[in-house]
Amino acid sequence: MEHPECIFQRHTQTPASSIIQMVGGETLLEDHRMKLSREQIEQFENDGYLFFPSLFTREEIRVLIDEVPSLYAQSRPENVREKGSDAVRTNFAAHMYSRPFAKLARHPRMVEPIMQVFGEEVYMHQFKINGKMAFEGDVWQWHQDYATWKNDDLMPEARAMNVAIFLDDVNEFNGPLMFIPGSHKLGVVEAEHDLSTTSYPLWTINHETIAKLVERGGIVAPKGTAGSMILFHSCLVHASGSNLSPWNRISVYLSLCAVSNHIRRFKRPEYIAHRDFTPLRCLPDDCLLKDYDVPLPWKDGTPEESLKPLLAA
Ligand code: SIN
Ligand code: MN
Repeated sequence: MEHPECIFQRHTQTPASSIIQMVGGETLLEDHRMKLSREQIEQFENDGYLFFPSLFTREEIRVLIDEVPSLYAQSRPENVREKGSDAVRTNFAAHMYSRPFAKLARHPRMVEPIMQVFGEEVYMHQFKINGKMAFEGDVWQWHQDYATWKNDDLMPEARAMNVAIFLDDVNEFNGPLMFIPGSHKLGVVEAEHDLSTTSYPLWTINHETIAKLVERGGIVAPKGTAGSMILFHSCLVHASGSNLSPWNRISVYLSLCAVSNHIRRFKRPEYIAHRDFTPLRCLPDDCLLKDYDVPLPWKDGTPEESLKPLLAA
């Protein structure tokens, strides 16, 4: 069953403001252009997600997608490959070593609505570039992200927002993300740790539960051009099928957590669950197309301590 597609545009289309301020050496925007309307907030509360078609331009997305082959070609632990294949399933933490993605991590069109929802500053909990490559991209089983963050990272509450930004066009054939609208309202649903289906361990929800949830809420799969963005609740139940099409479906997934809700346990490597809770400072709206100074602390490799669990958090 296809739920009516939710098509939110940016609240205002006004060009970037020049009102900027320097805070702690970083540029902070004072003008909140990307403000969610009351209707959008209500829609988010009801459905658990908001879809913004073509939020970023083709030109902006080109800067990002052009960087992906060199990231995927690196042999570093942040590249997780598909089971039995060299294709990259997910690349972690590119914002720590790639300039275009470091700028994306501070983009006001993405960060500001999230700060608005939580009413406080946010930090980057997780940053992934998921390949879902043509013919090779494997499934992501049905799950809620907050189940993992609670179980593994001891994140106190579901006050972290998931963001998907399409770097390729997403259609019905290349493994679009699927949601069960309204499922976020159930809180954390019982899950089992699946270590074998794919190359990446995940707390997954059994089929019987999914069938019941779908009977109630249906399934939606927001599709659109490269540059589209989805914000989705960290308890929203989601999954994606494999990609048997000849088209890649590369998307960036960012998880931004309210600073007061930072994780309490460092069981997973830092490149998967970040331990730096410094609030994100937004760059100006044109940051993907212009040169701005961003820190790239892992440019010459990931520090040894960030590769390992740190159990005494
Ligand atoms: C995820 O749930 O983290 C990824 C899903 C996808 O790439 O389709
Ligand atoms: Mn997920």
